[in-house]
Amino acid sequence: MSEVSVSILDCDFNNLNSEIEKVNNTNINYIHIDIMDGVFVDRNTKKLFDLDKISNLTDKNLDIHLMIENPLDSIDEYININPYLISFHIENNDKILKCINKIKSKGINVGIAINPNTNLNLLKPYLKYIDLVLVMSVFPGKGGQKFIDSTFERIQKLNYLKDDYDIKISVDGGVNNSNSKKLLELGSDILVSGSYLMKNSNILTAYKSLLNH
Ligand code: DX5
Ligand code: ZN
Repeated sequence: MSEVSVSILDCDFNNLNSEIEKVNNTNINYIHIDIMDGVFVDRNTKKLFDLDKISNLTDKNLDIHLMIENPLDSIDEYININPYLISFHIENNDKILKCINKIKSKGINVGIAINPNTNLNLLKPYLKYIDLVLVMSVFPGKGGQKFIDSTFERIQKLNYLKDDYDIKISVDGGVNNSNSKKLLELGSDILVSGSYLMKNSNILTAYKSLLNH
């Protein structure tokens, strides 16, 4: 079943309650939280998200996307809010197995995020341990960017690579109703979408148009 995760990176933080309420009134499956440290990517969003507050405002599963250096050092912070999923990047990370084990040991699903220019074969040694691959369809760092078309081929390749492993493919960046159909046809399981959903005057119609065409 295809699922949708809404990124709230560019939502209206002055009206967070109503922004989350808007999401609560849809069948959107997850809330995607983009944590950036100002090192792995330029922007720093560590103080932007009040994770306890967000957890209290919604029953939706939280999907944490860490764009940070040395994720092993600060994963505990995110484990503590008991999200559904934590994804960290494969790039600049020499402690991948340790990150996987730490997240899994708390019963939280684990994903590896991979940038548009990183070789998918690097995922191979980890596929048997993880629940999800977060395929970046933009270079991480900000919302509202244009979807990179070569993502389509990468989804196909990843579907082949993942073989019989029970791993979900999630796609993140520039996802809207003009690329969602193809992404789902090629085997994506979860569509992460930020500005298309949150900046639409009708989030319900926008959500439906991601899944039905
Ligand atoms: C990019 C983030 C994405 C992004 C999604 O660094 O990881 O989650 O905010 O937003 P849109 O859909 O606007 O590209
Ligand atoms: Zn993200």
